[in-house]
Amino acid sequence: MNPEDKKRIAAEAAVDHVKSDSIIGVGTGSTVNHFIDLLAAKMANQVKAAVSSSEASSERLRGHGIKVVDLNEVGKLDLYVDGADESNAQLHLIKGGGGALTREKIVAAASREFVCIADDSKLVDVLGAFPLPVEVIPMARELVADSLRALGGEPRLRNGTITDNGNQILDLHGLAISDAPDLETRINQITGVVSNGLFAHRPADVLILGTDQGVVTHTAGSD
Ligand code: A5P
Repeated sequence: MNPEDKKRIAAEAAVDHVKSDSIIGVGTGSTVNHFIDLLAAKMANQVKAAVSSSEASSERLRGHGIKVVDLNEVGKLDLYVDGADESNAQLHLIKGGGGALTREKIVAAASREFVCIADDSKLVDVLGAFPLPVEVIPMARELVADSLRALGGEPRLRNGTITDNGNQILDLHGLAISDAPDLETRINQITGVVSNGLFAHRPADVLILGTDQGVVTHTAGSD
């Protein structure tokens, strides 16, 4: 099965988690795009509204006639569906390949259940082969880069990218992350960092992977 089909079957399985008449959190990326399209095809009239983690997903949702609302208007959400760049067996994630990490973290924090969808290439033993995105306030970029080097990584500016929040992204290369919660905390403590792409303090609750054998579902500690 090709990667796009794997993403699509994972997205299709996530639609089963959506309850009718609910307001759901929707993430960002190519896998979530499948989810939005399938949600619209199967449940558009049953979903009350969505809280979106990016302008791109908001546009796609609205294009399907799904209402997008502000998180401040609705408070806690039952469900958040999003993709990932990497996951380990604890369902600690690296996210932010699409640059939407900060809003994704906010929607994940506001949600009771986080269902992550991906093709099976995203499941890894050790996080870090995918460069860890760090969103930074532009004036602090070099200051933050120095502190990231001190943590052992090699920060590289993502050229030409400005986030939906008007900030820049440093991608941190060369890490093998053995303690994701600790690294997430350390990076968050650097002045000038808005957020980083480690989702370890708030990991996924369920990971749905598309594989050659069909959909495989993991929960933290299930392996
Ligand atoms: C967006 O900022 C990311 O966190 C995405 O969720 C992640 O990059 C996965 O994207 P794909 O579904 O396109 O692989």
